[in-house]
Amino acid sequence: MKGQGASAGARGGALGSLRVEVVRALTEGSCTARELAQRLGKALPSVRRQLQELRSLGLVVRRGSRYSLLWDGGLKEELQPWVPPPWQCLQCGQSSYIAGLLKELVHLLHRSRDQNERLRRLSAQILRAQEEERKRVARELHDDTAQALAALLVRLGLLEKQVDATLIPQVAELRQLVADALEGVRRLALGLRPSALDHLGLAPALLALCDEFSRHWGFAVHMDVEPLPRLHPDTELALYRVGQEALTNVAKHARASQVWVSLHRVDDAIILEVRDDGCGFRMAAVKSQREKGLGLFGMEERLSLVGGHLEIRSRPRRGTTVRARIPIRG
Ligand SMILES: Nc1ncnc2c1ncn2[C@@H]1O[C@H](COP(=O)(O)OP(=O)(O)O)[C@@H](O)[C@H]1O
Ligand SMILES: [Mg+2]
Repeated sequence: MKGQGASAGARGGALGSLRVEVVRALTEGSCTARELAQRLGKALPSVRRQLQELRSLGLVVRRGSRYSLLWDGGLKEELQPWVPPPWQCLQCGQSSYIAGLLKELVHLLHRSRDQNERLRRLSAQILRAQEEERKRVARELHDDTAQALAALLVRLGLLEKQVDATLIPQVAELRQLVADALEGVRRLALGLRPSALDHLGLAPALLALCDEFSRHWGFAVHMDVEPLPRLHPDTELALYRVGQEALTNVAKHARASQVWVSLHRVDDAIILEVRDDGCGFRMAAVKSQREKGLGLFGMEERLSLVGGHLEIRSRPRRGTTVRARIPIRG
């Protein structure tokens, strides 16, 4: 029963493992929140919270200080694989009571799975729309704005040769301003959507990205990037965006002097790693601040949409390692 319950908890999503444990413990008879907490070896406030929630779902009733499960009978077939097998229900002599409760649980699990699936699809759509928009803006910046600035630069160069000597410093200054603006526009377009990623693939695009970061932010980037055959565009894009966010975090937060970026195929997966020797951070602290961690969350989200996952190792003063892994076929 223990094993089954634990896996139900792990897969239970919205229900959470503590709630499943509370339900399981309550099948042994009604009891107070304190008794239940002792039996489960959990903190009283968290058990109380779970009981409260189960009450609001109509799964648990309270009489005085004692809690017990509601029972409306029936339906054992649907319970697999989330719940204890029927013999265990029978063992505690309350089979239909538990079955009714579990029916409710299964219903909730299905609903939460549907909702997760809907959220997943929505999140993929949002990312796709965002990428399309970035592509469009990058193209316009590159084709229109950058071209116009480049033409202006050439004309100012010609003008510099024709004007009176006293005006040359002013024209040269203008030329410098335009050159800086052009550099800014190119960098912006590159950040939005590097054409190298579409035309040349992940490895060259990552090399260019590392170069750009190293030049702009002044930390040394050591690159160990394996030239790979072209991957699925979604895989390449996800890894590129993870690399970009990880390097941006190094620039923004790490105060690092060295960064190591590696891209390899290991067995049936592509692994991208970005490691720095900076100040590091405590993951728990970041997770507890709701407004923080959107970048880290975004990396995880992107990877999960292509079947990959993210691992972050960081400790204060010990640097940070971000590791993305995406399985590939063939
Ligand atoms: N390489 C890093 N070195 C030090 N701290 C980091 C690093 N990466 C992330 N962090 C910490 O984690 C937090 C969350 O990062 P992130 O989700 O990318 O959000 P943001 O960059 O917008 O703050 C950062 O605010 C920072 O405190
Ligand atoms: Mg960030």
